[in-house]
Amino acid sequence: MSATNITWHDGHVSRDERAQLLKQKGLTIWFTGLSASGKSTVASALEQYLLHQGVNAYRLDGDNIRFGLNKNLGFSPEDRTENIRRIAEVSKLFADASTVAITSFISPYRSDRDSARQLHADAGIPFVEVFADVPVSVAEERDPKGLYKKARAGEIKEFTGISAPYEAPESPEIHIRTDQTPIAEAVAQIAKYLTENKLI
Ligand SMILES: Nc1ncnc2c1ncn2[C@@H]1O[C@H](COP(=O)(O)OP(=O)(O)OP(=O)(O)O)[C@@H](O)[C@H]1O
Ligand SMILES: [Mg+2]
Repeated sequence: MSATNITWHDGHVSRDERAQLLKQKGLTIWFTGLSASGKSTVASALEQYLLHQGVNAYRLDGDNIRFGLNKNLGFSPEDRTENIRRIAEVSKLFADASTVAITSFISPYRSDRDSARQLHADAGIPFVEVFADVPVSVAEERDPKGLYKKARAGEIKEFTGISAPYEAPESPEIHIRTDQTPIAEAVAQIAKYLTENKLI
């Protein structure tokens, strides 16, 4: 049920003023891709790179968020949508606070990612979609958490790429074939995009 009788309360500092004061603009960098495609790996390396550049960055990572904020959600289509809706809202808040929010969630449904993008667009906050792209066969070979093995054995239902769909982005800002791109190069590719587009 939605709340009624609520009124938005503006603060005294606008987003632009905050960015000027903190000498940094916020944005959201949204990783999407199969499990084991390298979202968390590249996102962590990117976060480290940005922080060492003096750019405040903070990662919102699928599994970590499911330990806390989204611990009441599973992997049904409805729960996946709600998972992404909340992450979109939280990343928007971080970005609004002049931080580079880096999200790494499978986010398999195009419509959910588009909603996240729209939420940012409506707020005038940049949104950069990064497609961590690998063939399922490569992800399955990597299988760092043993999840594909369990999915093949039928122990995990609705596993993306095996028994649940993954809808690849049609026009992501950044497309990385992580089976052909070393981690450092992936970070450099993203950093180049951010610099060229004056986002950092
Ligand atoms: N060039 C590369 N880029 C990213 N990851 C790589 C690369 N080469 C090998 N890997 C390995 O691939 C695996 C990617 O796992 P990672 O946990 O980052 O995936 P993920 O997309 O976050 O998966 P999940 O959705 O399950 O969280 C890691 O074991 C990583 O070391
Ligand atoms: Mg991950």
